[in-house]
Amino acid sequence: MSLIEKAFAARTHEVEWSGIRIMFAMADEIPDVVNLGIGQPDFDTPEFIRQAAKEALDEGFTRYPPAKGFYDLRQAIAEKLKRENRLSLDPDTEIFVSVGAMQGIFNTCLHMLESGDEVIVIDPGYDYYSQIRLFGGLPVRVPVYEENRFKVDPDDIRKAVTAKTKLMIINTPSNPTGAMFDAESLEGIARIAQKENIYVLSDEPYEHIVFDGREHVSIGAMEGMKDLTISAYTLSKSYAMTGWRVGYVAAPKPLIDEMEKLMEHMVSGVTAMAQRAALAAIRADQQCVRDMVAEYEKRRRIVYDGLNAIENVSCIMPESTFYAFPNIKKTGLGSWDLAKKLVKEQQVAVVPGSIFGNMGEGFLRVSFAADEAKLREGILRIKKGVESLKS
Ligand SMILES: Cc1ncc(COP(=O)(O)O)c(C=O)c1O
Repeated sequence: MSLIEKAFAARTHEVEWSGIRIMFAMADEIPDVVNLGIGQPDFDTPEFIRQAAKEALDEGFTRYPPAKGFYDLRQAIAEKLKRENRLSLDPDTEIFVSVGAMQGIFNTCLHMLESGDEVIVIDPGYDYYSQIRLFGGLPVRVPVYEENRFKVDPDDIRKAVTAKTKLMIINTPSNPTGAMFDAESLEGIARIAQKENIYVLSDEPYEHIVFDGREHVSIGAMEGMKDLTISAYTLSKSYAMTGWRVGYVAAPKPLIDEMEKLMEHMVSGVTAMAQRAALAAIRADQQCVRDMVAEYEKRRRIVYDGLNAIENVSCIMPESTFYAFPNIKKTGLGSWDLAKKLVKEQQVAVVPGSIFGNMGEGFLRVSFAADEAKLREGILRIKKGVESLKS
């Protein structure tokens, strides 16, 4: 251990490299790899949004922004939240412009968690473990099952609640399963939150990427939930803006105040030019979002048909997001072993399901944020890899 490592604060060790990063480091070494592991849109940011950023530079948006975001952006966000999410929030006091949804999640854990607080998370689900553990929290996993299309059963959440439960993190539409939690189960969760006085961090990055005319429901809009919900949103996925790093948080005023105060001490605000681009995106007619979602919907069919045509692989139809979550249990290999084999022998990268929790073992995450040619080639390679196991 080097001198500086010996001097690290103990909490540093609670943060782990993400499993996805480890997988991609492996994929990067392989020539001509088809990467179906990526969790970001393959589209370019729409032209009018890029244009808004260029104009912002010429208009002088080159100085420190307000720590919680430009007021006109917060106003546009409040209107969007009311129109689309049925959340009524004061743009002055209840909205914070963040560095992606990720900062909203990180800050919520930082402000809310104390050593020993339990945090309910869904398994398989997005990896919130480092943020929780960094602040002394203990993740408590609630399983979701393929038989139930990976939808959470509020009774399973109820069973996981103890006197130490402080927060639950709900992510619908869900990464990596593509599941959506319907109004009925969210109401069940809301009742538990109110009865037990537990806060809900509702992480909603895929709110627009939903299929078959489904409607995304925000738990914060349910009766009695406004004071108990912290909702995290982002422009990353809906507008193909992962690199711009703009998201926002809707939460009760005291928490927004804390986020603003800390932002002053941390990074002073989200890049001014990126905020102006976000404003153009949110104020637009949203045709660009509909176009990208229509494209994902077409690709979803290719992936679903392709994966289900592979012997020993089965896949339920994702209801949302750009991820399929095929079951590979019949191949006889664990998810890391199969993913490693696929990348090394067939040059196709996917994400092992176990990265998303114990219940993700026996599954892979296949992203369809890739064009049709890549998807067809990637699935062909998965097929070859799985078939080679028989010989
Ligand atoms: C479930 C979930 N939450 C949060 C994030 C972070 O998104 P952002 O780019 O807005 O920080 C992601 C990104 O993949 C995600 O899938």
